[in-house]
Amino acid sequence: MEEKPTLKNSTKVIEIKGLNKSFGNYHVLKGVDLDLYKGENLVVLGKSGTGKSVLIKIIVGLLTPDAGQVSVLNQHVDQITYKELLALRLKVGFSFQNSALYDSMTVRENLEFPLVRNQKSLTKREVNMAVEEMLDAVGLLQTINQMPSELSGGQRKRIGIARTLILRPEIMLYDEPTAGLDPITCLEINNLINEVQERFHTSSIVITHDLTCAKAVGNRVAMLLDGQFQRLGTFEEVFNTNDERVKPFYDYNFIH
Ligand SMILES: Nc1ncnc2c1ncn2[C@@H]1O[C@H](COP(=O)(O)OP(=O)(O)OP(=O)(O)O)[C@@H](O)[C@H]1O
Ligand SMILES: [Mg+2]
Repeated sequence: MEEKPTLKNSTKVIEIKGLNKSFGNYHVLKGVDLDLYKGENLVVLGKSGTGKSVLIKIIVGLLTPDAGQVSVLNQHVDQITYKELLALRLKVGFSFQNSALYDSMTVRENLEFPLVRNQKSLTKREVNMAVEEMLDAVGLLQTINQMPSELSGGQRKRIGIARTLILRPEIMLYDEPTAGLDPITCLEINNLINEVQERFHTSSIVITHDLTCAKAVGNRVAMLLDGQFQRLGTFEEVFNTNDERVKPFYDYNFIH
C-alpha cells in the first residue's frame, strides 16, 4: 500500500496548545499540542484509555480543558458563548464511537433529522435532494426506505457518516470508524473516508486502532503516549522506532 503524502499547506483548522485534562487524580492529557491542517486526514493512535475520545470531546466543547488553548476554525472553544459553540458544532461533524442511528426511523428520516433541525428554511424538495445526494455519495441510495435493523454493520457506519456529512461540515472527527468491522468492510470505510476528503474538501481527525486504516487514510499520524503526542509524522516516521511503547501496535497489526 502506498503511503499518502503529507499535505504542504499552512492553514490550520484546529490548533491545540498545552492542553491539560484530568478526571479526579487521573491526569489524562498532559500538555497536548496538535495542529490539524486544512484538507488533511490526521490519524490519532494510542492505547485504550489514553484520552483520544476525550480530546475530540474537548474539540467540540463537550468537555472543558483544565488548561491550554483549543482553537477550532479560529475560535477558542472554551471562551465562546454557548450560541457560538452551537454554530461552530455545525461546522464540525463528529461521529462518536458506537454512535447509533435512530432505530425507529428509516434511513431517509435519519438523514433528514439533522437537516430539518438545523436548516429550517429548506423546502421538502431541497431536503429530499440533499438526502438522496448524500446517500448516493456513500453508495447506499438503495437503502433509503430501509430501517437501520435491516442494514449490515458496515452499511450502518456509512449511513452514520452520511448523516454527519449532510450538514457539510468543514471538519470531520471520526472516532474508531472501522471498529468491529470485517477486513473487506474496513477497506470500504477507508475508501469512503478518502472519498469524503476529496469530494467535500474536509479536514479530518481519524481515531483508530487499525493501522491498515491509519496507513490508508492518514496524511499524518500522531500517537498519544503518556498524555502527549510524542510521535507525529508520516506513518513510516512514527513507526520507524525501537520505542517499546510503539512497536507492539505495529507488530500486532502487521505480523511479520
Ligand atoms: N466524563 C468523564 N468522567 C470521568 N472520567 C472520564 C470521562 N471521560 C473519560 N474519562 C476517563 O479518561 C480516560 C480516557 O478516556 P477516553 O475515552 O478518551 O479513552 P480512549 O483513548 O478514547 O480509549 P479507547 O481507545 O478505549 O476508546 C479514561 O480513563 C476514562 O475513564
Ligand atoms: Mg475512545
